[in-house]
Amino acid sequence: LREIALKTADLIKRSGKTLALTGAGISTESGIPDYRSKGTGLWEKYDPMSKASLSALISDPVEFYNFNLPRWIKYANAEPNTAHRVLAKMEEKNFIRGVITQNIDGLHIKAGSRNVWEVHGHLRTCRCMGCNHKYDFSEAVRQFEDGIVPPKCKTCGGILRPDVVLFEDPMSSDYYRALEALEGCELLIVVGSSLQVYPVADMPYLARQMVIINKEPTTFDSRAAVTAHCKAGEFFEELASILKI
Ligand code: NAD
Ligand code: APR
Repeated sequence: LREIALKTADLIKRSGKTLALTGAGISTESGIPDYRSKGTGLWEKYDPMSKASLSALISDPVEFYNFNLPRWIKYANAEPNTAHRVLAKMEEKNFIRGVITQNIDGLHIKAGSRNVWEVHGHLRTCRCMGCNHKYDFSEAVRQFEDGIVPPKCKTCGGILRPDVVLFEDPMSSDYYRALEALEGCELLIVVGSSLQVYPVADMPYLARQMVIINKEPTTFDSRAAVTAHCKAGEFFEELASILKI
């Protein structure tokens, strides 16, 4: 592992522009299960299209909220782990420009990262599907906890939806800003993503070189300059000591 961390540190030092791309795997050590890990991934048990898609929300909003909201409340109460914290420090010391994340748990921001592109949205706000009125996400949580399922708009009575990117949703504006940030990217450090979901899975092609830190192999491993099949926390522990941060 030290060997791989040393090679990564060397690639970072030679790179004129480095970004990180993270997925659900970076948050499992914060207690949030991922989607596709063998045996524990959420989509190993449930079909995402029937649980986390726009049509699921429209056809059965009660089931959509009963399935997703308890999980999302857990995300909001989770704490960043070593990997999140080291990435925030690496940005502070200018080793990376920032983090492109598929995660909606907000843990990179909580860890102190400043440039974070949340390409699948976030859990800070929600909006009315009828009149587009904006609410703090805590409004949906409060109504849910008061037994009002699905949460309703105070102005028009419409159903509230979270500002996450659901399956069948268009991609977020952060996704397009992340594509701009990837221009001239010389090194992309991919952490905790199976790189199976599009269009994010096409992003690695935009970087000149890639490092992949992922517990399980990905279809991009052969293209990576460096690959470590290990836990993100262990890897970033090593990298932090090598970078002296
Ligand atoms: P999608 O159609 O891109 O993907 C649906 C599923 O099909 C994915 O889980 C993926 O495993 C598979 N898939 C899609 N294209 C593939 C390909 N070319 N090769 C192999 N597998 C492929 O999802 P969508 O309906 O376009 O959703 C748009 C975005 O919303 C996706 O990027 C998805 O990651 C995201 N999303 C976010 C959340 C969330 O909670 N934030 C939940 C679900 C989906
Ligand atoms: N350290 C390193 N890798 C890990 C760890 C860990 N502690 N825990 C899990 N992993 C790896 C798993 O082996 C898996 O390959 O992280 C990867 C997580 O992949 P997914 O579960 O597919 O998560 P992600 O790639 O973020 O999924 C993309 O799918 O449902 C949609 O919108 C949702 O953003 C999500 C998107």
